[in-house]
Amino acid sequence: MARWLGLILALAAFSNLSEAYRFLVIFPLPGKSHNILGSNVVNHLLQAGHEVTFVTPFPVKNPHPNLQQLDVSSNFELMKEEFMNVTALLNNEISFNNPIMMFQFTNDLFAKTVENPNVAKVLGDTNQKFDAVIAEWMYNDAYSGIATIFDCPFIWLSTIDPHWIILSLIDESTNPAYVPDSLSSSIPPFNFKQRVSGLLLQLVASAFKTLYWNGVVEGEVRRLIGPYLVQRGKPIPPFLEVSHNASLVLGNSHVSLGQSIRLPQNYKPIAGYHINPKVAPLPEDLKKLLDNAKNGLIYFSMGSNLKSKDLPDDLKQGILKIFRDLKQTVLWKFEEAIPNLPKNVHIVQWAPQHSILAHPNCILFITHGGLLSTTETVHFGKPIIGIPVFGDQFVNIERAVSRGFAIKVPLSYTMLDEFKAAIDEAISNPKYKNKVKELSEIYHDRPVPPSKELVHWVEHVVRTGGAPHLRSPALNVPCYQKYYLDLLAVIAAIILVLVVALKLSLRVLRCNKKQNLKKKKN
Ligand SMILES: *[C@@H]1O[C@H](CO)[C@@H](O)[C@H](O)[C@H]1NC(C)=O
Repeated sequence: MARWLGLILALAAFSNLSEAYRFLVIFPLPGKSHNILGSNVVNHLLQAGHEVTFVTPFPVKNPHPNLQQLDVSSNFELMKEEFMNVTALLNNEISFNNPIMMFQFTNDLFAKTVENPNVAKVLGDTNQKFDAVIAEWMYNDAYSGIATIFDCPFIWLSTIDPHWIILSLIDESTNPAYVPDSLSSSIPPFNFKQRVSGLLLQLVASAFKTLYWNGVVEGEVRRLIGPYLVQRGKPIPPFLEVSHNASLVLGNSHVSLGQSIRLPQNYKPIAGYHINPKVAPLPEDLKKLLDNAKNGLIYFSMGSNLKSKDLPDDLKQGILKIFRDLKQTVLWKFEEAIPNLPKNVHIVQWAPQHSILAHPNCILFITHGGLLSTTETVHFGKPIIGIPVFGDQFVNIERAVSRGFAIKVPLSYTMLDEFKAAIDEAISNPKYKNKVKELSEIYHDRPVPPSKELVHWVEHVVRTGGAPHLRSPALNVPCYQKYYLDLLAVIAAIILVLVVALKLSLRVLRCNKKQNLKKKKN
């Protein structure tokens, strides 16, 4: 009898496990690498048997039957062409490290996404129900308000190494004494100056966020999300209640790629989930090229946003001259044809990066160092030359250098000599290759593949009603309690009382002495 009961319970548990859920997944940023991360979240959930509504600027034709796409390709209107132009970057005409500009852009993106008629239709449909909302975190907390509409758990996906701002949404900020900002290239241990500038950056940015920016975002959430709450007869909660309500952060990070930092229980590092463990076979022509590359092949790609054709002509010719003198074959992802190409240089407009990096004859990857590219180099164990251009690429490359599998070459008009020296060093010195192989082993040595972990934790959040047990108690502890400022105040008060008491008693004692003396004289 007991055995039957056990079996029935097990079956019930199993049928519960394989229940299909409905997810709203939001990746509004019109950038290819962001779409790779978003569409792979969607694919893993679909493969696990769930239904997904996907807010995306890159809708595909003939989608999976359980996938509904909400086309937000009009978000491309926000991406200015010069954002991604190499020559403009070389001339210092634009800077990506301007936080105000970035924050403003993220707010425009939120408004444009939510106001998109395709999205508005779903948000305004009171028959829609979701088991969880998953959204990309890009320096804007507003998306958490969308889960409030559907009264369901909310999950962030952070595309970068754990950033102190997102950690402060589920736990607390990291300590700037030993954790750099994701956009800084300093690497601990820090000297005095680095520690102080890290602290200043964090203090100024926190003050800006809490005193000013959160108010702006709250206004936008009220304006854009409020009406949907009113429509459903719900009150509009204070914004902090919404933005501090995330159940989980899925992080596109891993210790083998970034830093070993302390993480709360509801932060799950799942870097590499976008890479299919079964690498697609190479197209025939590329396969031949790689198979025949006796001295190895160097793969050169500046990612999907930066167009190599925006490179100034002098640089282009100089790079070609360097490649011509190499024994190795070079595969350059470049958007335009080049006349008089050296015999060992091959241009492709499109490159199956994973399949190329997976080939044993690929010996070096020259990259801008976007997070996906540095993940892929460690996944496939290939050393790199990094030419960072903006955003987190600088710190990605800096870390790869400090970990010993990369050489950095700053983008400039005079980079050619350094570029040549870097290629020679990377090819002739085996230490870069050995180091990346070692890290690759650490990266792959996990109890389950990252895609399995992604699905598991998302389902766990739904199964446990928002996973309140994973939440950090730090979230509800005010600053003065965290740093024991109240205790400090008590101690200061006691010391004050003691000092005053001591002074008073000394004075009384002195007075008494004087009186005694007077009495004696008399
Ligand atoms: C907070 O999250 C829970 C689920 O974890 C959800 O039911 C609730 O509506 C959320 N509250 C707000 C204010 O968003």
